[in-house]
Amino acid sequence: MGLTIAVDGPAASGKGTISRAIAARFGLAHLDTGLLYRAVGRRMLDGEEPLVAARALRAEDLDAEDLRGPDVAEAASKVAALGEVRAALVDFQRAFAARAGGAVLDGRDIGTVICPDAPVKLFVTASAEVRAERRHKELLARGHDTRLEEVLADIRARDTRDAGRADAPMRAAEDAVLIDTSGMGIDEAVARAIAEVEARRPEPDDA
Ligand code: DC
Repeated sequence: MGLTIAVDGPAASGKGTISRAIAARFGLAHLDTGLLYRAVGRRMLDGEEPLVAARALRAEDLDAEDLRGPDVAEAASKVAALGEVRAALVDFQRAFAARAGGAVLDGRDIGTVICPDAPVKLFVTASAEVRAERRHKELLARGHDTRLEEVLADIRARDTRDAGRADAPMRAAEDAVLIDTSGMGIDEAVARAIAEVEARRPEPDDA
């Protein structure tokens, strides 16, 4: 089986950029598991029942254009608190993780619940203020006109919901490497993550 790398952490910590860079560097497939919850959240906003939406989810749904906005993020965090919705999405994620060529999955519970045996686990974090500034810039660049204070409040509300839910709460696995990107630029954060993977990945022979 190929190398599986689990990357968890809160919103706007840099885990998405880091995961894409690791996947490119080591030739692995990449799944942003937040998109699964966002796609279900999107369908809930359209009036569908979240569990029905989760069970009917197809890979194509992850390509929808409008999954990145703050309303969908909020809806995603709400549907992600529903145990049955999470259960409906487990098989898809585990099948992806088991791809022969190896995979990087990023999310909140990859190292703890989805891939507890992953040989490399990173938990990427940053202060709420730094994350809010990053997300605010991104949203403005994408044409969403929001205030920094609102973005910070949203991030805090999401952190509380994601870390406080009973089912698969966001937390670092005991064997995860912690990377705090608060004082790092993206290049530094990526270089640090790649170095951690290099140091931990099993030799190809015993993988
Ligand atoms: O990573 P993101 O911001 O796209 O995630 C959107 C929401 O989905 C997030 O608030 C929590 C939820 N999520 C989750 O509960 N478990 C995951 N593995 C990924 C995301």
